[in-house]
Amino acid sequence: MLQIGSLTFSSPLILAPLAGYTDLPFRLLCRRFGAGYCVSEMISCHGLVYRQPNTLRMLRSVEEERPVSFQLFGAEPDIMGEAAKILLEFSPDMIDINMGCPVKKVTKKGAGAALMTEPKLAEAIIKEVVKAVDIPVTVKIRLGKEREKINVVEFAQMAETAGAAAVTVHARTWAQGFTGTIDQHYITKVKAALSIPVVGNGDITSHQAALEMMDVTGCDGVMIGRGALGNPWIFSGKTTSVTLAEISEAALLHLDLLEQFLPAEKLLGYVKNHMCRYFKGLHGSSILRREIFAADSLLAIRQLLSVTD
Ligand SMILES: Cc1cc2nc3c(=O)[nH]c(=O)nc-3n(C[C@H](O)[C@H](O)[C@H](O)COP(=O)(O)O)c2cc1C
Repeated sequence: MLQIGSLTFSSPLILAPLAGYTDLPFRLLCRRFGAGYCVSEMISCHGLVYRQPNTLRMLRSVEEERPVSFQLFGAEPDIMGEAAKILLEFSPDMIDINMGCPVKKVTKKGAGAALMTEPKLAEAIIKEVVKAVDIPVTVKIRLGKEREKINVVEFAQMAETAGAAAVTVHARTWAQGFTGTIDQHYITKVKAALSIPVVGNGDITSHQAALEMMDVTGCDGVMIGRGALGNPWIFSGKTTSVTLAEISEAALLHLDLLEQFLPAEKLLGYVKNHMCRYFKGLHGSSILRREIFAADSLLAIRQLLSVTD
């Protein structure tokens, strides 16, 4: 049973933070399909401190999705601490700190994966956030800057000492971005070196593969990102026997949730983004994807999705 701080989760499989995807509707969907918990899209500490409407909109949550983790990113310890306090107004069950994002917009400001090259600064950030809140604080990291500078074990130990309640390891370097393959044996090494829970992450595309990662590395949980897009069954373990009717039903449920929780002006783009992920690999799916992208209303998309076996 995965346990972080005083929280116990129904499943060790977790929805990873995915900017542009892990909004409230998708998190709710994944929880309904069995995810132990879900992590929000990354939230800027500056956006929070300045209470920017676009940032605050990302913090919507409902009781049904609990426990939920909100992810913060930033590079200044005091601002991260202040932002964490503001985050508490929105009642997350955990706060995750992003120390793994390789996107330039984030790293050029010293945040995300860049923090793995500045362990002292990273330590100060973790300490400030831990001090600011009374809920578990977790940290999401990579292997290090590049192959020759892998420092994940020392970095994870530092995070534990600084007060992190769990660490997630995306087993790629910053330099790799999202290319190449993960190096799972570093997850094993981190697990062996820490007493707090260690969550493995990277390239998991099936429920079985997630369980295998836990088996092989000894990690306490597995975070799944891209493998959950259009495939919430990855959490329930039913992936292999999903019928066309079930795919249609899940896509329509997802669409309903998007409609219920997202602002109308953003809806069509978000719906297209998510809906194109369903039916992937099935006969005729590329035509369906094109039709979804060309659709000019939710009603039209709903009709396209309403297929049966
Ligand atoms: C579109 C996209 C957005 C992402 N956004 C975030 C993010 O906001 N915060 C974060 O820590 N990682 C983010 N990641 C990284 C994922 O959480 C995850 O670590 C990575 O995709 C590897 O796991 P996967 O192979 O299961 O997708 C993102 C990845 C993708 C592809």
